[in-house]
Amino acid sequence: MTTIDTDPDTGLDPLEFAVTRNLAAKSAADRDAILASPGFGQNFTDHMVDICWSVRGGWHRPRVSPYGPISLDPAAAVLHYGQEIFEGIKAYRHADGSVHTFRPDQNGRRLQRSARRLALPELPVPYFLQSLRELIAVDGAWVPSGEDQSLYLRPFMFAKEAFLGVRPAHKVAYYLIASPAGAYFKGGVQPVSIWLSEDYSRAGKGGTGAAKTGGNYAASLLPQSEAYENECDQVVFLDQDRNVEELGGMNVVFVYKDGTIVTPQSDSILEGITRDSLLQLARDRGHHVEGRNVSLTEWREGVASGDIVEVFACGTAAVVTPIGMLKGRDFIDEQPSGTLALELREELTNIQYGRAEDKHGWLYRLDA
Ligand code: PLP
Ligand code: COI
Repeated sequence: MTTIDTDPDTGLDPLEFAVTRNLAAKSAADRDAILASPGFGQNFTDHMVDICWSVRGGWHRPRVSPYGPISLDPAAAVLHYGQEIFEGIKAYRHADGSVHTFRPDQNGRRLQRSARRLALPELPVPYFLQSLRELIAVDGAWVPSGEDQSLYLRPFMFAKEAFLGVRPAHKVAYYLIASPAGAYFKGGVQPVSIWLSEDYSRAGKGGTGAAKTGGNYAASLLPQSEAYENECDQVVFLDQDRNVEELGGMNVVFVYKDGTIVTPQSDSILEGITRDSLLQLARDRGHHVEGRNVSLTEWREGVASGDIVEVFACGTAAVVTPIGMLKGRDFIDEQPSGTLALELREELTNIQYGRAEDKHGWLYRLDA
């Protein structure tokens, strides 16, 4: 059991997690074989965390248990109405062996904002942080130490009440699982090609675009298949006014020739923590940063005129990836290649892996 003091901001006492060890945990040799080439999202650690919530009991029964299938009533609301949210965050192994994560308070708060939008209960941030520490306490050996490797942590929450009426569920579960991760895209950091989705949108005004909820990703799968059919890696979505929103799982950033950095900002876009951090690092270098609408026309004309000198995508799973091409039904625009995206990627990952000073206090130690 990890000992954590009463949280000074919320006055919450830590939860007491009941820990059941996995007697069928992978051997060190099997684990090392997986960590040698982890891929993304294919292998899972030996344990998982869950915490129950009910209208009457609030948050209760915190557990660490062997990783395995979840038993659900077929009438569980999540299976019918998709009342579900999730997060994505990574644990990094530093050269001295210690394990750290990056700005977890931001993920904890975003999980709360997603919960509000999906009418789910808000997990207090101290409980969120504690869940990460509890899992690392038992599965810390799963944090890989290879270059660009990490342990991807996937917190999620869903409606488990067996009830077919359409209303917020009275019983909810929060889970945390973890998956060792290498590069998100096969081939490492190569420029990606982007398909412009003209027929499908991801989010609407007043919809759930800013929440990290499964439905947004379900809505992105058909346009993502269209991207593959058109030999593109990813899909970019527009809003109803043909402003650029984001990719299926990453934010988009434009670099202008005067050094200004612009990124789409609206209440239908997920507020990425990677993007926020990269923009802070860019500000630290003296770049002017703007969050505003960017129309498709501004993008295409900016590239054609040379005003836009670089376009990149960013997110926890893929970190920073230059965009090399934008393809639509009747056009292909090669994108200019610059150096800023990869410089910022290096600066960010140097902080995350403990190779550079953490000036903004973004790291959070998980194994002590
Ligand atoms: N946009 C979408 C739709 C995402 O799924 C993600 C990934 O989590 C992001 C943006 C980037 O967010 P973050 O940098 O917090 O991972
Ligand atoms: C992330 O970057 O954490 C994501 O959630 C993107 C994708 C794996 C859904």
